[in-house]
Amino acid sequence: MKFIALSLLIVAAALSGAAFFVSCTHEKTTAPVERTEQERFANGEYMTRMAGCNDCHTAGYTEAGGDMPVEKWLTGSPLGWRGPWGTTYASNLRLLMNSLTEEEWIHLAKNTKWMPPMPWWILRDMKESDLADMHYFVKALGPAGELMPKYLPPGEAPQGPYVEFPGGN
Ligand code: HEC
Repeated sequence: MKFIALSLLIVAAALSGAAFFVSCTHEKTTAPVERTEQERFANGEYMTRMAGCNDCHTAGYTEAGGDMPVEKWLTGSPLGWRGPWGTTYASNLRLLMNSLTEEEWIHLAKNTKWMPPMPWWILRDMKESDLADMHYFVKALGPAGELMPKYLPPGEAPQGPYVEFPGGN
């Protein structure tokens, strides 16, 4: 009787060990790494900074040498970019991203080819977790600023300041 109880105990210990092992490996392969809100905010800020989004989407950022508080980031720029495609404006991303869910933003970022000089391939090639953090960061900043001027087709002259690319209008 003692012997049986002991073997049962050993079997139980072995099983729970196996279960522990299985749950560990399971977690390693499928569970996403848990990150704090602060980490997501910080990475979203870092990705935005490193991908150069402010260079075009934040008025005055380039002139300030990148020395601008995050509260002013991504509110758009009224500087037109004129070329064979017409005239485009770097939109207000604070308004745009605050109107989209994370899934909608990732879908848009991964599947849209915007007009020049928007480097759409940066968003296509960015990891989904980084795109998600970027969305988290901009959403945490909240909506701000105004809508930028609308796209103008070739042949229509812009009202405000613009940069002209060669190649006809
Ligand atoms: C060289 C300038 C430039 C840079 C750098 C740039 N953009 Fe843009 N972006 C533009 C312009 C111009 C447009 C408008 C394009 C159009 O109308 O098709 C635009 C459009 C967009 C749009 C579409 C907005 C809308 O209202 O539909 C998104 C989203 C966007 N940019 C995100 C980003 C992000 C995120 C980054 C950083 C990874 C970035 N852009 C970097 C110039 C730029």
